[in-house]
Amino acid sequence: MAAQTIFPAWDPTHAGLWGAVPLPIAHSLHEHELFSDEALAALLETYPREHASLVQWGRHGEAQAWREGEWSGLSGRAALEAIAKARVWINLRNAARVDPRYGALLEQIAQETARRVPGLCAYNWTMGILISSPGSRTLYHADLPGQSLLQIRGVKKIYVYPRAAPFIEDAHLEKIALSGVEASLPYQPWYDDHARVYEMHPGDMLHWPLNAPHRVDNEDCLCVSVTLEYFTPEIRRGHMVTMGNAILRSKFGIAPRSRATHGPAFWGKAVLQRALRGTKWVKRQDRARRPPEFRLDPSLPGGVAEIAGA
Ligand SMILES: [Fe+2]
Repeated sequence: MAAQTIFPAWDPTHAGLWGAVPLPIAHSLHEHELFSDEALAALLETYPREHASLVQWGRHGEAQAWREGEWSGLSGRAALEAIAKARVWINLRNAARVDPRYGALLEQIAQETARRVPGLCAYNWTMGILISSPGSRTLYHADLPGQSLLQIRGVKKIYVYPRAAPFIEDAHLEKIALSGVEASLPYQPWYDDHARVYEMHPGDMLHWPLNAPHRVDNEDCLCVSVTLEYFTPEIRRGHMVTMGNAILRSKFGIAPRSRATHGPAFWGKAVLQRALRGTKWVKRQDRARRPPEFRLDPSLPGGVAEIAGA
């Protein structure tokens, strides 16, 4: 596999801006052989279902029931054809661990980022490949790791909001940390007046400040995007504080006053969240275990068929 520069138009100002503001950067993944139509179809065809989500979304404004589907038995091409007609998205959640070729590419991305952003100390990188139907939306939410979105096919608009109240509050982050589900932030349309909006075309990447709320609207086309996530020692310590505060607030009724990532209060929370993680006190939802209710079917106008009895 030919090595190619991941960020061909890197600007020296990017290193200082990384994580401080929403930062658009050009990338080359859309031209990489692992993201050709053939490669994506082949990946879909063999991808282990337990490492993917296939989710159907509701009409805009309608409460979204989380319905999982499947595409077993379809060729990758047929699955893509169905997604282009349907109202679904597939997230190949951990492509780099499932397929060593994507793992090698992620390693290259990590190394190039480390070289270009001195002092970042990013580790535990993960790569998700998101294939979504025309008009798909990702609702207003925030994520806990450091995050970038790289556009591969199609066009989507991403709105990034300030990482500050009222757009996001500590209690919101704590709820996300406790539940493991990111899509539960309260949203008001006027928030958009304070968002930075980026139209993402193939070859565009956006990296945004840690925990900044965001939402995404696809244009009327099939979209393929890559999400990159990573942790740093500081993000990990912040996450331990968030978990500790979440437990204090929700289980002991104590309003936490500090988000310090050092000193005795930090270490108390570090021990608390470590002790309770994985117990009934911190119950994380696992959406991927729901039984499939529909299957992709490119022969149908809506691209999906209901599974009888599901
Ligand atoms: Fe996100």
